[in-house]
Amino acid sequence: MNGKLIVFEGVEGAGKTTQLNHLHQWLQQDPDFQDLQQQGLIPEVIVTREPGGTPLGKALRSLLLGQAEYGAIADHTELLLYAADRAQHLAEVIRPALAAGSWVLCDRYVDSTVAYQGYGRGLSLSLIETLNHIATQGIASDLTLWLKLNADTGLTRSRQRGTLDRIEQATHDFHRRVQRGFESLAAAHQHRIVSINAEGSVDAIAQHIQTLVKRRLKTWYGHHLKT
Ligand SMILES: Nc1ncnc2c1ncn2[C@@H]1O[C@H](COP(=O)(O)OP(=O)(O)OP(=O)(O)O)[C@@H](O)[C@H]1O
Ligand SMILES: [Mg+2]
Repeated sequence: MNGKLIVFEGVEGAGKTTQLNHLHQWLQQDPDFQDLQQQGLIPEVIVTREPGGTPLGKALRSLLLGQAEYGAIADHTELLLYAADRAQHLAEVIRPALAAGSWVLCDRYVDSTVAYQGYGRGLSLSLIETLNHIATQGIASDLTLWLKLNADTGLTRSRQRGTLDRIEQATHDFHRRVQRGFESLAAAHQHRIVSINAEGSVDAIAQHIQTLVKRRLKTWYGHHLKT
């Protein structure tokens, strides 16, 4: 049986990592999910991220997000480094996990490339689609949770957390274009991307996500569930 790929997307500081960790903890105590795990239907829950979900990816992540040791990174170089990270991530982590029936909770995926390198940097959307396809070999998420937060609010949250990485340091206009990218993606892929209002409290957002995932569990595994 195929596993499920659940992706968290959104601008800097939208709460992706916070909510991914909440969902991970919640799954470990949800009776339906536990039941499915005990039946051997979902061997593992894997928490991962892009960039940086593999040893090679960690090196690529530090090139992409680190400080300017190598000088400015050209836009197409950036795009190709993200694509390389993704191709490795799919081959080494995501595809084998899904083939085993496991769940993969992933912090950012293909939509981030469309939003940041497409809408943010202005690179060709059809080129990005081609590279995403090469990297993923067509593996799309089963559910993408887009944490929708005003880009400026997200940057303020990130700033409060500490130093800003190379992408976070880009202009406010860049981050607003990224936000518009996520808006267009959500409008175009309503079956796959669910928009979550991320302005509220951590707990309120976590509850919203749990309700959604609980419903999906019934849709995906209903005939295996006792309740
Ligand atoms: N709902 C919330 N309300 C207020 N602060 C929040 C909320 N969710 C997360 N935060 C705080 O905002 C900061 C950014 O959250 P988090 O790291 O989860 O975002 P992110 O989307 O993963 O960011 P990045 O894109 O930088 O990885 C953290 O300091 C976190 O504690
Ligand atoms: Mg994060």
